[in-house]
Amino acid sequence: MERAWASGYEAMVVTVDLPTGGKRERDARNRFAQPFRPGIGQMLEALTKPDWSWRILANGGLPQLENLRGLTRRSDESLATLASSVGQQLDASFDERGLARLRAMWKGKLVVKGVTRADDAERIVGLGADAIWISNHGGRQLDGAPATLDVLPDMVEAVGARVPVMLDGGVRRGSDMVKARALGAQCVCAGRPTLYGASAGGYPGAQRALAILADELHRCMQLTGARSMAEISRDLVRP
Ligand SMILES: Cc1cc2nc3c(=O)[nH]c(=O)nc-3n(C[C@H](O)[C@H](O)[C@H](O)COP(=O)(O)O)c2cc1C
Repeated sequence: MERAWASGYEAMVVTVDLPTGGKRERDARNRFAQPFRPGIGQMLEALTKPDWSWRILANGGLPQLENLRGLTRRSDESLATLASSVGQQLDASFDERGLARLRAMWKGKLVVKGVTRADDAERIVGLGADAIWISNHGGRQLDGAPATLDVLPDMVEAVGARVPVMLDGGVRRGSDMVKARALGAQCVCAGRPTLYGASAGGYPGAQRALAILADELHRCMQLTGARSMAEISRDLVRP
């Protein structure tokens, strides 16, 4: 946190929906485990995409999580190792006291991510959080967790007058942003769209994914007659 503050970061996001890793069967099926050993299927897939494979090889191999380098307990710090060690590096006893301690230590804005219950949101705002980020971790943690859009109205009613309410999870279209805005979100975030873009085309690919979302947002606003964010009102959606 001191490093982040010294580097000029103004807000810190604390994720609270990951006391342990979810059961990620797709990771297991794709052998996204440690140590990472590509199987026949992955090799064949790579062969069918020579341009992509060549670019990965030319750029130094599989991507690494640079900001976590040196912070793991293992010597092997490949992306797959880090991803599959989710859950082993976490403190499952982190609770409201822990959050209060972080609040006291961090001078900037504190955002709490991974909240889907109004009563939790109230308590977290009571502890001094500056924003609530509704998230079910993209559905990667708890199967059966509610869709974030479904809980949004309750959350906005509970804390929306005090702090901004943000939302992520399944934002794939500009119209998804309009729906979230109409139901009271101040901000939406997208995880996988930019990851897909980056996987397909590197940094420009990630920018392209955002450009597509922005274009769809404008188009949807025009089609619904909203000239500004403020005009994206609740009556645009029907339950
Ligand atoms: C590969 C991957 C890694 C993620 N790692 C983290 C993480 O380390 N911390 C975190 O708070 N959320 C993490 N998330 C969840 C995202 O921050 C975000 O909540 C989620 O992807 C939003 O849903 P979407 O992908 O449908 O847009 C991760 C998501 C993906 C797909």
